[in-house]
Amino acid sequence: MPESDLASRQTTAAFCHRALAPEQISGRYLLVQQPQLIARDIYKSFRMGARRIEVLRGISMDIAHNETVFLSGASGAGKTTLLYTLAGLERPESGTVKFEGRELYSGSSSWEARLRNEKMGFVFQGYFLLPELTALENVLLPAMIGRRTTKGEAEESLAAVRLADRMHHLPAELSGGEQQRVAIARALTNNPDIIF
Ligand SMILES: Nc1ncnc2c1ncn2[C@@H]1O[C@H](COP(=O)(O)OP(=O)(O)OP(=O)(O)O)[C@@H](O)[C@H]1O
Ligand SMILES: [Mg+2]
Repeated sequence: MPESDLASRQTTAAFCHRALAPEQISGRYLLVQQPQLIARDIYKSFRMGARRIEVLRGISMDIAHNETVFLSGASGAGKTTLLYTLAGLERPESGTVKFEGRELYSGSSSWEARLRNEKMGFVFQGYFLLPELTALENVLLPAMIGRRTTKGEAEESLAAVRLADRMHHLPAELSGGEQQRVAIARALTNNPDIIF
């Protein structure tokens, strides 16, 4: 990300000194909200036999709270690999990812799984719906693992992606776009802090 972008984001920071008595103020205090996600120097490659495919070569980026970020690049450029890495699903070979002040890939895998379950939503490129579960059951699945989503909330999410009349269909009985919308409903349910 160009330095100028970072600089312009920080212009949203507020000067805040009203809570202090005038004699306590020796300067001005700049409060800058930490980015929600901070990635630094991410490297990731895949080994295919003797060949090594270098996909991510020193990626650094910050994502602010409520910011929408678009990744564009040629097919095979590494977009999905980067998303997986930022979401704690694909450990980088080197570099760090910090989400809401906490370092991913440094704690236990069960802690990371709980973090993903409670705070992150994913819309996978390949949908990853379970074929033996209906659309509604797929949306409710994260709730079974730990989220507190109710059936009503899951139905609301499906209605929001215009699938109210397809809730009891299996993935094989849905079009590709409808399956993708079920995946979106699953990601939206329970209001995650971040959606990938
Ligand atoms: N598990 C893996 N093992 C080996 N190579 C992999 C693996 N995952 C991805 N790759 C390779 O890494 C490169 C980047 O893949 P990635 O899926 O991140 O691309 P992408 O930018 O998301 O592409 P698309 O736009 O087609 O979805 C590709 O060349 C791919 O073949
Ligand atoms: Mg991809």
